[in-house]
Amino acid sequence: MKTQVAIVGAGPAGLLLGHLLRAEGIDCVILERQTREHVESRIRAGVLETVTTDLLHRLGVDAGLNAHGMMEEGFNLADGERIVRIEITALTGKHVVVYGQTELTRDLIAAAPERGLQIIWEAKDVALHDLTGAPSLTYSNDGVEHRVEADFIAGCDGFHGPSRRAIPAEHARQFEREYPFGWLGILADVPPCHPELIYANSDAGFALASMRSPTRSRYYIQVPRGERLEDWPEDRLWDELERRFAPLAGGAVIRGPALEISIAPLRSYVFEPMRHGRLFLAGDAAHIVPPTGAKGLNLAASDVAYLSDALIAWYRNGDEAGLAGYAAKALARVWKAERFSWSLTKLMHRFPEDGAFERRMQIAELDYLAGSRAMQTAIAENYVGLPL
Ligand code: FAD
Ligand code: DHB
Repeated sequence: MKTQVAIVGAGPAGLLLGHLLRAEGIDCVILERQTREHVESRIRAGVLETVTTDLLHRLGVDAGLNAHGMMEEGFNLADGERIVRIEITALTGKHVVVYGQTELTRDLIAAAPERGLQIIWEAKDVALHDLTGAPSLTYSNDGVEHRVEADFIAGCDGFHGPSRRAIPAEHARQFEREYPFGWLGILADVPPCHPELIYANSDAGFALASMRSPTRSRYYIQVPRGERLEDWPEDRLWDELERRFAPLAGGAVIRGPALEISIAPLRSYVFEPMRHGRLFLAGDAAHIVPPTGAKGLNLAASDVAYLSDALIAWYRNGDEAGLAGYAAKALARVWKAERFSWSLTKLMHRFPEDGAFERRMQIAELDYLAGSRAMQTAIAENYVGLPL
């Protein structure tokens, strides 16, 4: 098979890129290791910046977003007792939209056939070849070997995919910070305890109250690294959530059976550069942020906004400048999101090595934040997303 752009991975980065290229008549194919059902049932992020929602509107894949997206004009940071509202719209003129990554992914997959975007599910053993010459991909499907030749390869295959690993180590630098905790998340069909998101640094550790709709809640708590799901019967998790949120929310934490429950480790990671020859990396394939700033999915979207512009300019008029500048442009935005996610993670979590002094530093920072419009504005403008 021959195509113009071969995309590895049908997560948000690969699907958005595929649609953006197809909208310009550029040929592309997506190779995805998992089944469609698996990809459509993964529960992940929930807060979209306007950079991301603008792409969905531009593509016209926005019926679900328009019908069910919840526009948020503020969110809350709490130190366990006091809640500080960050009035993002008053401070920045922008908002965020709560709309699940699961729903966004389903919408993009559903719209693929009518836009001529081919997705090959269960593409096993994907391997990348000749990245600095005539690139190609090989994979197997139903026991049959296939080859795809392409002008370019887009590595949108997440943190564990093969694309980044195909770049020789001598051409790359990696920057990494693992956190000594993870987030235990639960999704349940119960009304949220508060009308807006609350990120809380309580005495027992971090907790986040989020939502998917007026009747569906998404909660997370900080748990030590290595903690197992078996240690967390649902009642134990609800007890913790009640302890951390009931004093803040002014409403009850209503319990219900888990639709999904999982633990995600927290990590900061950047791989430089995001290009090698004719391979371009985008999204989690190149960088990971801890989820505290809700930036992971949104960075995948901003990467592919830059990358699609560059590829479109190349196909339209042979302009190389966008492709040459892609890695630097994307990384400039990535590093700022890394900084924001890292600083909010430090402010809102309990680190096992921290003592009473560090705790007082967190409380002093939240206290300062409560009275400083300047600091609230800095947080708000990062939360709504820096301009492209
Ligand atoms: P992914 O969504 O990871 O998509 C990559 C795709 O590539 C996947 O479909 C994968 O199956 C496919 N793939 C992998 N290997 C291969 C291969 N060998 N061949 C072919 N295809 C392959 N962010 C937040 O902001 N808030 C959250 O609460 C949050 N929770 C998360 C929970 C988990 C468990 C994870 C893993 C991430 C979470 N994130 C969260 C981050 C956010 O979901 C990601 O930043 C976002 O999914 C990035 O999109 P992506 O398309 O770059 O990568
Ligand atoms: C959600 C996840 C996040 O990482 C975040 O910062 C806010 C909300 C969520 O899943 O709803």
